[in-house]
This record gives sequence, structure tokens and C-alpha cells, in this order.
Amino acid sequence: MADALVIFTPSGKRGRFPLGTPVLTAARQLGVDLDSVCGGRGICSKCQVTPQVGEFSKHGVTVSADALSPWNAVEERYDRIRGLREGRRLGCQAKVEGDVVIDVPPESQVHRQVVRKAASDVEMIMDPATHLHFVEVAEPDMHEPRGDFERLCEALREQWQVEKVTASLPVLARLQPALRRGGWQVTVALWRGDEGVAKIIDIWPGFHEGRIYGLAIDLGSTTIAAHLTDLRNGTVKASAGAMNPQIRFGEDLMSRVSYAMMNPGGDQEMTQAVRAAIDGLARDLATEAGIGARDIVEIVFVCNPVMHHLLLGVDPVELGQAPFALATSDAMSLEARDLGFAQVNEGCQIYVLPCIAGHVGADAAAVALAERPDRSNDLVLTVDVGTNAEILLGDRSRVLACSSPTGPAFEGAQISSGQRAAPGAIERVMIDPITKEPRFRVIGSSLWSDEAGFAESISTTGVTGICGSGIIEVVAEMRLAGLLDAGGLIGSAEQTGTARCELQGRTSAYLLHDGTADGGPRILITQGDIRAIQLAKSALYAGARLLMDEMQVDHVDRVTLAGAFGAHISSKHAMVLGMIPDVPLDRVRSAGNAAGTGARIALCSVAARREVEGLVSRITKIETAIEPRFQEHFVAANAIPHASDPFPNLLT
Ligand code: FES
Repeated sequence: MADALVIFTPSGKRGRFPLGTPVLTAARQLGVDLDSVCGGRGICSKCQVTPQVGEFSKHGVTVSADALSPWNAVEERYDRIRGLREGRRLGCQAKVEGDVVIDVPPESQVHRQVVRKAASDVEMIMDPATHLHFVEVAEPDMHEPRGDFERLCEALREQWQVEKVTASLPVLARLQPALRRGGWQVTVALWRGDEGVAKIIDIWPGFHEGRIYGLAIDLGSTTIAAHLTDLRNGTVKASAGAMNPQIRFGEDLMSRVSYAMMNPGGDQEMTQAVRAAIDGLARDLATEAGIGARDIVEIVFVCNPVMHHLLLGVDPVELGQAPFALATSDAMSLEARDLGFAQVNEGCQIYVLPCIAGHVGADAAAVALAERPDRSNDLVLTVDVGTNAEILLGDRSRVLACSSPTGPAFEGAQISSGQRAAPGAIERVMIDPITKEPRFRVIGSSLWSDEAGFAESISTTGVTGICGSGIIEVVAEMRLAGLLDAGGLIGSAEQTGTARCELQGRTSAYLLHDGTADGGPRILITQGDIRAIQLAKSALYAGARLLMDEMQVDHVDRVTLAGAFGAHISSKHAMVLGMIPDVPLDRVRSAGNAAGTGARIALCSVAARREVEGLVSRITKIETAIEPRFQEHFVAANAIPHASDPFPNLLT
């Protein structure tokens, strides 16, 4: 039989096929990523391709206009009803009639679609666990005793090469009406299981025009961030955040573990509170995006170990004491209804990323998935700053991880005028080294405090306090302006030559803002504030040094700051304080919410889930709590920037 050369772009895959072969068949045989939901029946339009005409010297072919069969009745009907874009063909209907070059447009390459990450240009590949499949099922027969489900399984095997299939009871209950209403044609949402068993998680009569979505959720101890993501192309349709309602049981992780220890049933109270908040977020996101709860078919969670246990309904008490044993560290696949989520599809599947260790959770695993230190030629220190700092150090040869108890000072807690990052909070500070006069910027205004129009720009909020990035900048600026010595002691008015240094009891405080112009509070940086920041930054630095000791290095090539906080702090001020090890400033970058990005990657790719599971098993965990050198590093790091480390890049 005569054959023809078929070349697909942009993949460049090519092969020879008998004349009359459908383009979709050729694509499948060559492993070209060409989408199809209806299995080649001319219904879904996902298989659209653009045949090229002309001379392709690079490929050594000349393509004529009749290299593909003319439009058939299915394409004509499709074009009449829905319209086919100029030059497009349905890959399942067009047949090869001669040498041909066929372009697969991005929207038809769903399984290999590239989505750029928020804060960097690393790419992720679409390979979601749940797909929609249109199936034609044989009708029942008096002589054939098999059930409708068994005939559906056979159809999936023949039409979609899915070997083992299960279905939940709610799906079984909907199966017979769906088959009959759809005229023995149905669309199923098929979730690829962990052990080669696919599960039908929903079923619709006929061809289902709708889309399916997933939620990527970064469950933090302070906030819950959720992204509603289109599972066909990875697009975020809506994002929302909510305070973690567990805050009323304790500000930080350890106080929540204590609450569980001291109050019988306290862990269940916290579990119910956080699950209700997540369910509410799912409902709000669905409403905002204009979709139904039934369209949300998957959820991926990343969270620290205590949040992980409380989400799953496991008492976190063991995480509060050595050896900090996790109930389970492996990745988990669950059903949403097991956790009582009612605002998503009844069959919605949950994937929880693996934890690295008792203090280094699935959120750190998600950062590792987003940043892939194991693929870096440079030695990269990645720091996710929160109430606990999670720190990764590694390159291609090895990746180490630890967590360090920085406390809530970096989030504005334990600071006399501290507050969360919100309109009215001071977020940027500069102090003139000669006059010692400050200027600052407030969240909600783009003007500095000494610029014309500043007061009007903050008229609705005034200056309400100082947030984490502001406190880091003001302490570093105080050190640079000579208001603070290396030991962290604030000088008196006489020593510093400015009346802004006021006596408060036996120590001094620096007046950052007197509040007279806006009627707001006086913002003072007290000696207690400096001590809180010294403790937090020493813990962070000591954790990083401990990993560097283990790696037997005295410097790193790059530093990546992850998390919302990492996105807002100035690398220069962080280094002046000695929060991070010395490195050229242009080698410090912010990765934004890398844990959230990792959650999105895992939501959109089964392969990424397997990758993070393998990566976590190769990460070496270093326990700061039992390591004597941590204490030594911590004490030396109390000085600003450090008692012995020279920080040469601060001088350049
Ligand atoms: Fe559905 Fe071609 S595969 S229209």
C-alpha cells in the first residue's frame, strides 16, 4: 500500500503512514501530543491541527493543498454548527493523502502545555491525574448478562486503552440514568490511580461540554491560600486567601500542639475549623469563577507537618516532642468526602505532598518541587521564611533540609508596634546616616513619607504599625546609621546625636514616626524589638550554617527567598542584619510563593507527583533541635551581622 511522510510541528516527530490514515492516529502512533476527549468522533474539537502547504526544504518535502483528504460530512457539520477556524482541520477526521507537514497548535497540545511559573521562567508540563473521556457503550442485550458498568469498562478499554477501572457508589448510582439519557454515550471524569487502577469520579450523559478544575492549596499556620486551576491548561481561574481559623487556638504551631495536649478533643476542634474554612474557600472560588462545585474534581495540599496532621484529623501531639515522629511522611491520596468537603465534586480526589521530616513538611517539599535545587549546578540556599524557617541547601550532588524556629517576629508579632502586612503598615524604611532622620513607605501608598501628597495618600488608614519587611529594614538601617551597635544595643540621644533616640526605662528606643500629622500611634523601635529580631535572624542564619557545615562549604553560590515574606524583604537589608549568609546581592532572588507554585505543579502533573516523592526520599534531613553546633552558630549570629563571619559582599 502506498504511504506518505507525515511531519508534526513543533515536535518535529515524523513517520510514514499508509494513505488514508487519520491524522489523530498518526499522531498517537508517533507519540505526538494531540488532544482528544471524544476519541475521534468529531464531537469535542480538541484535536484541531493546521496543515501546512508549500516547500519545506528543512524537511525535504513539498506539501500540496490536497495532502489531506477534503472536508468530510462530520467536519462540515461541525463547521456549520460551531465554526472551525480558518485553515484548521479536525485531526480525527482529516486523512493523510500525501506528504504533509502538520502543525499542532498549543491549545491542542494539552498534555504538554507549558505554563510559566509566577516568579520565574521554569516551565511545567500539563499531565493532570483527571481527564474527561467521551465513550460509546454497547447497549444491554437479553442474551448478555453483564452489567452496564462492565460494558462501560470494556468501552474504556477498547476506546481509551484503560485497563482497570473502578467507580464509587455515587457514580454507580448515576451510571444507568446517564447511559440511557445520553443514548449510550457518556463522558466520564477518569482519575488515574496510584496502582494502575483508574477511578471514574463523575459521569455525564452524552458529550460533556464543561471543564474540570482543581484546587492547589497552601495550608499555612496563619493563612490558607487557594488557587482554582483549569485542569486542561493549568490556568488559574481564581485565587483567594483566608486566615487560618486555628489561630484562635494558638498563634503558632507549638501553641496549637499545646492546645491539643491540654484540651481533650482539641485536635478535633482545630481539624473541623480548618476543614470548614477550606470548604468555604472552595465555595467562594467556584462562585467567583462562575463554575459549579461539581466541576472541582481534585485538590492538592501542601502544608507544614502540624497543619498536615490537623488537616487529616491526626492528633499532632507527637510532633511537639522529640523525636518529632510523623504519623506518616508519605504522599497521600484521599477522597475529599473523607475529610468532609461538601463544596466540591462528590468524587473529588485529594493529593497531599510528602513530608520531609517531623519539622520539615510538605510545604518544603513543594518548594523543592518548584525550585528543583537537585537540578542546579550552583549550590543554592533556599529559605522559606515563616514562623518556622524551612531551609534547603543543595545542588545536583545532594540536597539537605532543616527547619529553624524563627518565631513570629518576622511576621510583625512580638514587635511593640508590629502588625501583619496590611494597608497602613510601614513596609520600607530609610534612615539618613548623617541626620538620623527616617523616611518610610506604607502599604497602600506609593509615596515616601517626606514626599508631597503622602498624608493624603494614606488618609483612609493613617500609619498603623510596622510589618515584617519594615522591621527588618528599620533595624538594618539603624545599624547602618550608627544608631545600633554590633551587639544590637540602641544608642542614647547623646551617643547618637539625635533626639529620636528616647530613653525608655534603662534602654533607648528609636522614634520612627510620631503620629502627629496623621493622628496615628507613635511608632517606636524598642530594645525589645531589636532583641526579638536578633533571635529570629540568629535562628535563621544558624540553620543555614548548620546545613553548610554538613555540606562542608563556607559559602553558597545563590540564595533564594521563598514565601510571601521572602517576596517582600530587601536582600540588602536581610544581609546587613545577617539573616542570610554572605553572597553577592545580585545572587539573591525572590521565588514568590514557591510552596503554592509547587502545589500547582503537583495539581497539574502526575509525573511531578512521582518526582517530588522521589526527591523527598533523597533529601537528607538535619535536625536542628538536637545538634549542638546549632546553638554555637545561634550565639555567634546574635551580633549584627555576625560575631565572626566577615560578610565581604556587604563592603562592595
Ligand atoms: Fe474529538 Fe477530533 S478527537 S473532534
